[in-house]
Amino acid sequence: EKGGHKHWMSKEIHEQPAVLDASLSHYLADGLTEGPLSEIDLSGVRRVVMVACGTAYYACHVAKYWIEQLARIPVEIDVASEYRYREPPIEDGTLAIFVSQSGETADTLAALRYCKNQARTLAVVNVPTSSIAREADAALPILAGAEIGVASTKAFTCQLAVLACVALKAAADKNRLGPEQITAEGEALRRLPALISTALRGEHDLEALSRNLSEATDILFLGRGAMYPLALEGALKLKEISYIHAEGYASGELKHGPIALIDESVPVIVFAPSDALFGKTVSNMQEVMARGGRVVLVSDREGLAGQSEVWAKVEMPHAPDLWAPLLYAVPAQLLAYHTAIAKGTDVDQPRNLAKSVTVE
Ligand code: M6R
Repeated sequence: EKGGHKHWMSKEIHEQPAVLDASLSHYLADGLTEGPLSEIDLSGVRRVVMVACGTAYYACHVAKYWIEQLARIPVEIDVASEYRYREPPIEDGTLAIFVSQSGETADTLAALRYCKNQARTLAVVNVPTSSIAREADAALPILAGAEIGVASTKAFTCQLAVLACVALKAAADKNRLGPEQITAEGEALRRLPALISTALRGEHDLEALSRNLSEATDILFLGRGAMYPLALEGALKLKEISYIHAEGYASGELKHGPIALIDESVPVIVFAPSDALFGKTVSNMQEVMARGGRVVLVSDREGLAGQSEVWAKVEMPHAPDLWAPLLYAVPAQLLAYHTAIAKGTDVDQPRNLAKSVTVE
């Protein structure tokens, strides 16, 4: 049933190229003019609010960068347990998006109910028959297939895939991108499943590195731009299944506090593809190394070249800048998985956690 894998989590990590390909084919049909998004008109949207919990919230956090950059629509993100009790004002022209693998998370459902009748509501869910899917004005299934492991993996990347398509649709409807640009970005996005397959072939190297990481008591994750939410996701994944204390930070925030934690015992995992922000992240990395911190640099060949001071390198294929977060989810997942295996914890059913949090 686990297709030769020891754990559901491993099976689900490896399913990503196939499920992402299916999801992207579904949503990108004929340059967005066919398929589920063709029926959704986003031209009147003036503001987007995105609400979710845990990993689904980090998917929203990545999508904020995409929607703001591509469609130039301001995006507010919040965790559902805060959003629902904050009772924020909702402006006219708001599109409220609720992201949930299970579609049953109590706080996310309550936040959706709060928004109903005040905003247009859209659900991005894995379970199309779920409460959140049924109660929203429209639902976009992520098509990841059943996710059994408590740690969310393929649901995260499929959420990103669907939200990437929503960002492209918003850009098209707002006349920010013409049909050729939409097609070009769509094609770039469709390369991600193959790039993820390549990244998965590097699993063995990550396994060896993870044995080392499993000795640590604290691990930091850093990223800039859309890699910042990946740092948060990497830390969440690691702590939930390996029970190692981990924190994710925006690279630029390092000197505002967390740098005080750095010494030889603290591995610092840096997600930094060689994009426009790479140089900035390198200077943060140097600050860490100057204090004895052990940097694990996750980047492409271009980014890794010349970084001889780092403690370990993890090579990713080169990805289109915009869509790189889908690819960098894979090392985040594999590092957490193999570190947990090295520690001997129960990766599919970690202590104190439930797959679906239906009570607040
Ligand atoms: O079913 P949901 O997507 O609404 O669940 C949200 C979170 O509970 C979930 O993503 C949780 O953070 C995962 N265990 C993370 O791996």
